[in-house]
Amino acid sequence: LANGLGSTPPMGWNSWNHFNCMIDEKIIRETADALISTGLAKLGYEYVNIDDCWAEISRDDKGSLVAKSSTFPSGIKALADYVHSKGLKLGIYSDAGYYTCSKKMPGSLGHEEQDAKTFASWGIDYLKYDNCNNDGSKPTVRYPVMTRALMKAGRPIFFSLCEWGDMHPATWGFNVGNSWRTTNDISDTWESMISRSDQNEVFADLARPGGWNDPDMLEIGNGGMTKNEYIVHFSLWAISKAPLLIGCDVRNISKDTMELIANKEVIAVNQDKLGVQAKKVRMEGDQEIWAAPLSKYRVAVVLLNRGPVRYSITAEWDDIGIPPSSSVVARDLWEHKTLKPRFVGNLTATVDSHSCKMYILEPVS
Ligand code: GLA
Repeated sequence: LANGLGSTPPMGWNSWNHFNCMIDEKIIRETADALISTGLAKLGYEYVNIDDCWAEISRDDKGSLVAKSSTFPSGIKALADYVHSKGLKLGIYSDAGYYTCSKKMPGSLGHEEQDAKTFASWGIDYLKYDNCNNDGSKPTVRYPVMTRALMKAGRPIFFSLCEWGDMHPATWGFNVGNSWRTTNDISDTWESMISRSDQNEVFADLARPGGWNDPDMLEIGNGGMTKNEYIVHFSLWAISKAPLLIGCDVRNISKDTMELIANKEVIAVNQDKLGVQAKKVRMEGDQEIWAAPLSKYRVAVVLLNRGPVRYSITAEWDDIGIPPSSSVVARDLWEHKTLKPRFVGNLTATVDSHSCKMYILEPVS
């Protein structure tokens, strides 16, 4: 969407994966504080996104959405002011239907202009817009109504389409929003994570600066996968130019989780100016090579082992877009080491079960 936002994939946090409907303004404020105190904000995690269940089930007598008084007594404007005072941005959630997916609050269908104005007046910076409980009309009809409402509301608001049905928003989302879901909801397991990454890859050609494919939010730190599996999760999301929205409780974040989501070198791949989503350039059984061109003639590569045993995996220059006889310097983004030998023609590494290696390759001749 040509609203000047999303020139690189959005980074931040969202309440849903960890808290579901159990949210309140204290959690949101403390999360903003934690993004600062952990240093995550400095690394680019700037959006603090409230998901479903923040509003009263009924609109007020003017038809406006109102924050739930029991959980958000100070109101959303005050929360936005707080989050902005920390140099962060506030996101919110609504739905292109009569009720949101939880059915615990109203959706914006038929109230698009009013709600967009409300969000803008509160200082909202990001809107996640779901597709539950609608009138059965096509999302290609209902979503652009909110796009136009947001563009008239007088404040730049990142527009995240939370829709993945048979209409494949990747094929129409670029003129409507800044990101669109390519899958149904992720859960905190290897199978769920890896299958979402696969489904998202299919649409790689349709993502670009201003509009990104969204395989759903991060589960890192929620406890359902091993550390190596979470490394795969972060590596694939980064190289796929997916939104990096943390989904754990950052107020109680572990050292291991920090080490993963605070990996500057991996984040830099995600935020690279070129904005090209990775593709699987080779698949052999459980072994896969994912590659994406980066700025300055570099290439990001993930060697992925989806299987139960250790493999030696080789990336060939022919597969990843580097001229055949080029000599390449390889930087290992998880070991934080520039490998000693220069590589000509290919690079081979041993990769454990449910693990990956991630490199930036830089041709030097
Ligand atoms: C849908 C979305 C989730 C979350 C919930 C909230 O399932 O895909 O990300 O927003 O709704 O109810």
